[in-house]
Amino acid sequence: MLPLDTLISWYRTYADDLRTARDEQRELLAQRPMRPRLDDVEAEISYLTIRALRPGTVLEIGSARGWSTTWLLRALRDNDTAGVLHTFDLTGDAEQTVPAALSAGRWRFTRGDARRGPLPDDPGFVLVDAAHTARFARWYTTELFERLRPGAAVAVHDVFHGRRPWPVSEGAVVLGWLRRHGIGHLTASPAADPDTHDRLVGLKQKLRLAAPVHATASGNPMLFAYL
Ligand SMILES: C[S@@+](CC[C@H](N)C(=O)[O-])C[C@H]1O[C@@H](n2cnc3c(N)ncnc32)[C@H](O)[C@@H]1O
Repeated sequence: MLPLDTLISWYRTYADDLRTARDEQRELLAQRPMRPRLDDVEAEISYLTIRALRPGTVLEIGSARGWSTTWLLRALRDNDTAGVLHTFDLTGDAEQTVPAALSAGRWRFTRGDARRGPLPDDPGFVLVDAAHTARFARWYTTELFERLRPGAAVAVHDVFHGRRPWPVSEGAVVLGWLRRHGIGHLTASPAADPDTHDRLVGLKQKLRLAAPVHATASGNPMLFAYL
């Protein structure tokens, strides 16, 4: 699991680049109809995970209009390595909104059901924000998470809208899978872990990263796990 202290050290290490990425995302939002689903802290943790782990391959399932996609692409760009993001979505909306300057040479988009693949080999970071059902979660935990190498990281959206997920839900399936494998998780959801949320908000104020990137927020419900 990712200790909070490690995440805090990532915020400090990459604060300047993160500030630039946040400004760029704010500007993108003003220019294009993105409809963001990821909130600021969970988007930032995704960005920082890619900066710190430097995966050669990142997999995203569920891009919609590309808000999470552009955050992930910025992290790969800022790593200045040959990292590639593979994105799957049933719609092709992200292809219209992701700027070519950001995607060139580092983005492979597949329009279609991720369950049909082909999924990339050995992703070092996987972000899932797609069908929020227990059935879909059973697919990606057994067919995808099960095959990831130790050290890979995963992020699943819409798990912690409350203190814990509903008993029959995507989040419950993911938490059950993590528990059976002895893997902990981290969330910045104020409903599920107010201490972590408050520490990160305080840190962001100190680092001049507090101004919202986008105003509509759904409470950072993302779960992060480091295998
Ligand atoms: C909540 S939206 C993603 C929001 C996006 N991550 C963001 O940050 O704005 C969910 C997306 O998942 C896609 N989706 C649902 N089921 C899917 C599947 N089986 N394979 C690929 N994409 C899927 C939908 O088409 C939809 O665009």
